[in-house]
Amino acid sequence: MSKTAELIIDGKSYTLPVIEGSEGEVAVDISDLLEKAKVITLDLGYKNTGATKSAITFLDGDNGILRYRGYSIEDLAEKSNFLEVAYLLIFGELPTQPQYQKFQHDIKTHTLVHEDVKKILDGFPSTAHPMGVLASLFCSQTAFYPESLDPNRSAEGVYLSIVRSLAKMPTFAAWAYKNAVGHPVNYPDNSLAYCARFLKMMFALPAEQYEVDPVVADALDKLLILHADHEQNCSTSTVRIVGSSKASIYSSISAGINALWGPLHGGANQEVIVMLENIRKDGGDTEKWINKAKDKNSGFRLMGFGHRVYKNFDPRAKIIKKAADDVLNKLGVNDPVLEIAKKLEEAALKDPYFVERRLYPNVDFYSGIIYRALGLPTDLFTVMFAMGRMPGWIAQWKEMRENKEPIGRPRQIYTGEKLRPYIEMPKRG
Ligand code: CMC
Repeated sequence: MSKTAELIIDGKSYTLPVIEGSEGEVAVDISDLLEKAKVITLDLGYKNTGATKSAITFLDGDNGILRYRGYSIEDLAEKSNFLEVAYLLIFGELPTQPQYQKFQHDIKTHTLVHEDVKKILDGFPSTAHPMGVLASLFCSQTAFYPESLDPNRSAEGVYLSIVRSLAKMPTFAAWAYKNAVGHPVNYPDNSLAYCARFLKMMFALPAEQYEVDPVVADALDKLLILHADHEQNCSTSTVRIVGSSKASIYSSISAGINALWGPLHGGANQEVIVMLENIRKDGGDTEKWINKAKDKNSGFRLMGFGHRVYKNFDPRAKIIKKAADDVLNKLGVNDPVLEIAKKLEEAALKDPYFVERRLYPNVDFYSGIIYRALGLPTDLFTVMFAMGRMPGWIAQWKEMRENKEPIGRPRQIYTGEKLRPYIEMPKRG
């Protein structure tokens, strides 16, 4: 017999269905509560609200588990590569050899962007943050591919938009960087794999030879896998809710890029490095900064610490911490902020404030250190997050569309003035 929940409001009882997920998570389905009881539920920040049913990513915050389509993040980070993970997330299964070859080939076919994109890029001052540039360039694809605006687009049409999104993202990201540093843009070199192609577009200069370092390309590939999806977070929910209005894939994902930009979300990876640098310049006294984070009046939070869902450890942070050590060793980089980060982590994990609130290092705590070792500028860290998250946003947009989800439209509890008469200006006090 299916489970139910009973809700009593003003002595009147309402029976609500209880839904169970494939990993045993339980939800009370309140979707017809308004109709039945004239009551809505209130949950600021959606801390306890399931907005959808999804078969893409499983996350268990208490036990530090993250799986894409049933495969553990540890397995994928060690054995897979970013494009294979992208295929898995978007289409539900690991690709066979022919499927993988076709996917790779299709992506390579679309790495070039329309030449007029350069005109848009030229409109941005070099001081523009690359995340704003990225979101704009990505959204501009609606102009170059107006057929993508058709809400009833065929499956082939949607597939084309998907490969275009994955293919052009590294080009946009590298061009956003080139705009910031005032260098000429590079075109994609399709003889290279995904991450190597991006690195060449980023760092090659017309005046010099450039060889992609395989250590750097591999490390970047692993980072992208770790960021590829994270179920219903702020940016992903944004993509789904924008897409639910039947907006195009490009406008939905562009909205996701903007949501990711905020310092409490993807923007934290940039803020972590800024914070570690400030601690270093301030003499490296980690205790002082921990106390500052505990002081509610300081307005300062330990960036890269805490997570809405992970309340034990962030499995991505565990993998990244080890990768940071490996990459810095392999590249022979001695970054003093890595030592500060380790000291800070050690002190915070012993401090009752952080222990009681179950605040642990998250994915962003060490990723910035690796990005820095790979030669990426701080402003570009969140762009890297966006590049990694692209398959997740696509998969979630596609799932929302295939499930024919209704338009996202939350309710509210109104706390403003009751009806009052209009007052003519001379009579206003
Ligand atoms: N430093 C100091 N105190 C903190 C921190 C922190 N980083 N994070 C949370 N707290 C405190 C917070 O002040 C509150 O204390 P109290 O109960 O005394 O009022 C308590 O812990 C709970 O915090 P919350 O803001 O209610 O928790 P949340 O689930 O709404 O926020 C978070 C999660 C990630 C936004 C938050 O932990 C944070 O701001 N962290 C720093 C920014 C960061 O690293 N963001 C990256 C998140 S992971 C990548 C991604 O997916 O985007």
